[in-house]
Amino acid sequence: MRTHDVKEILIEKDTIAQRVDELVDDIAASTGSTNLVVIGILKGSFMFLADLMRSFHRHGVHPRIDFLTLSSYGSGTTSSGQVAIIHDIREDIEGADILLVDDILDTGRTLVFTKKLLLDRAAKSVRTCVLLDKKAHRSVEFEADYAGFAIDDHFVVGYGLDYDNLYRELPHIAKVNFR
Ligand code: IMP
Ligand code: MG
Repeated sequence: MRTHDVKEILIEKDTIAQRVDELVDDIAASTGSTNLVVIGILKGSFMFLADLMRSFHRHGVHPRIDFLTLSSYGSGTTSSGQVAIIHDIREDIEGADILLVDDILDTGRTLVFTKKLLLDRAAKSVRTCVLLDKKAHRSVEFEADYAGFAIDDHFVVGYGLDYDNLYRELPHIAKVNFR
């Protein structure tokens, strides 16, 4: 692990909370589904997904929920480019409308891989929702249906996101500054 600090806050906790509610307002307004399954990609999405779910309560939406654990960056800050399933979902998603949730859209490989996987398994629709979007770092063409904040190409942690599996507990998003 390189020498670094995480003192610089990029997005405050209250700003995140407000944006989560706005995202859920958008999602609820465009979803009349009675067969909605929210699928979180672990580990990074756990905090975002929990807040999204609490916000769904305001709209009386009752989604099923499941999690998919994918191989991540490994240790470090650069993507391996490989996506592999470590733990699969258990819910039956045939004919279901899926909301696929991840912490951040970076190269795009994770969501391209996962969306295809779920459609191949006969999900009726798959929409994607990310908290953060590093638009400048795509290696495959992909846009999320719902994105919280567009950010510059800088490594960030907190609110579920990690550096070497650390800092996920931060309630805000911080920049990792290397020295
Ligand atoms: P993609 O397949 O390159 O779009 O990668 C998405 C995954 O990369 C996310 O789920 C994160 O686990 C990880 N990731 C990408 N950028 C960052 C970052 O700045 N901080 C922490 N994790 C990141
Ligand atoms: Mg992740």
